[in-house]
Amino acid sequence: MKVFIETYGCQMNVADSELIMALLEKNDITCTDDINAANILIFNTCSVRQHAEARVLGRISNEMARKKTNPHLKIGVIGCMAQRLGEKLGKINPAIDFVVGVDQYAKLPEIIRQIVEREDFLVETGINSNQMYQGIYPVHQGNFNAFVTIMRGCNNFCSYCIVPYTRGRERSRPLPEILTEIRILGENGFKDITLLGQNVNSYNYNEINFAELLRKVNQIDTIRRIRFVTSHPKDLSEEVIEVMAESEKVCEHLHLGLQSGDDEILHRMNRGYKSSDFLKLVRDLRDAIPEIAITTDIIAGFPGETEQQFQHTVDLMQEINFDYAFTFKFSPREGTAAASLPDQLPREIRQERLQRLINLQEEITNRKYQSQIGRIKEIYVERLSKKSDNEVSGKSRDFKITVFPGNEILMGKFVKVKIIQATGWTLKGIMLD
Ligand code: SAH
Ligand code: SF4
Ligand code: F3S
Repeated sequence: MKVFIETYGCQMNVADSELIMALLEKNDITCTDDINAANILIFNTCSVRQHAEARVLGRISNEMARKKTNPHLKIGVIGCMAQRLGEKLGKINPAIDFVVGVDQYAKLPEIIRQIVEREDFLVETGINSNQMYQGIYPVHQGNFNAFVTIMRGCNNFCSYCIVPYTRGRERSRPLPEILTEIRILGENGFKDITLLGQNVNSYNYNEINFAELLRKVNQIDTIRRIRFVTSHPKDLSEEVIEVMAESEKVCEHLHLGLQSGDDEILHRMNRGYKSSDFLKLVRDLRDAIPEIAITTDIIAGFPGETEQQFQHTVDLMQEINFDYAFTFKFSPREGTAAASLPDQLPREIRQERLQRLINLQEEITNRKYQSQIGRIKEIYVERLSKKSDNEVSGKSRDFKITVFPGNEILMGKFVKVKIIQATGWTLKGIMLD
């Protein structure tokens, strides 16, 4: 039995796939990264936008053909789309053999054993808002960087978002497990750690809040860099900003979803802050951490968004100058409050506004990256450059990909690099030491 897992969606899913590998291996089920060698294919799916679901359903249809040459091949769907659609997936594509939701992964070994033995369609999608997969340490993929889950679920119910429905209620992972996992990761050469949750700022385990958690992670001597995603503007406290500023391992980088720059739209999104609150946060962050890079998420064409309201988003983006913005056009998700709001905008308007946001951010990002020329940055070398044999690439503390002459000896090292050029989202430099 060999299992191949293909992962879609956010880092939460990436981390879950790594958790599942640990669960399977503990039960003597082997994982492979070669799809041709596998007799069980698992798709870990995302529901955040219609497009995300359509894409993975298309992928499953493509891989279905393998069943003709390999009649014993089984296909499973897990993750957020599995949670959302459950047994309906069997009707959408009868080639799917099993569907497992986000709180039922502990049953996967058993389900896989059953499914190889008989022709059946198995579904396990019960929500269990206490499930934290305690005692399971994920099999981290790759080198150097690792995601560490600190929370599961979300209680925020932003009106456009499916996540609170697919991932259930918010819960925090026990502190001792987080610290142990990170220490071991560091010993194994993963020096750059990203703490994960849908709203990490509301971490709470036995009265230990997120700021305190950051302090404790900062004391782990086996690692060099700490990042975290995602922060919700309404919960990012002064205390967290202080800890970021004073903890030398916490990187000068924050992802903070703006979503819209218009107060009325923010209200209808149920985001719990105004544009002025967001601006104040950005100022406080930049005062406390002058070198900080701030990235964001923005939605274009929320129901009822007028041209003027959209313009407020454009204005705010111009005022803030994000280092990068992930921009999306609103996608109505069945069962969420925003999907049944009046004045849903036609696709063309949403698309056209999205394009304007993309163009604007490209300009801003270009300017930001150009302004890095001449600076000296610490780069954590992660790979050989894709484009050239005698160049390596890595990230700066403020999350900018940087390429410079070097070879594999530098892999996993922290080096000082002087930036001499910026092209698109990539910086180029020369090593100093
Ligand atoms: N918990 C994170 C977001 C996770 S979803 C946070 O609050 O920052 C990632 C991003 O997808 C969101 O920030 C939002 O910009 C986008 N998104 C979520 N639902 C969407 C929808 N229905 N249509 C378009 N974009 C959406
Ligand atoms: Fe979705 Fe809002 Fe929760 Fe983020 S905070 S996952 S956008 S409901
Ligand atoms: Fe997608 Fe689920 Fe993440 S809906 S964005 S994979 S939490």
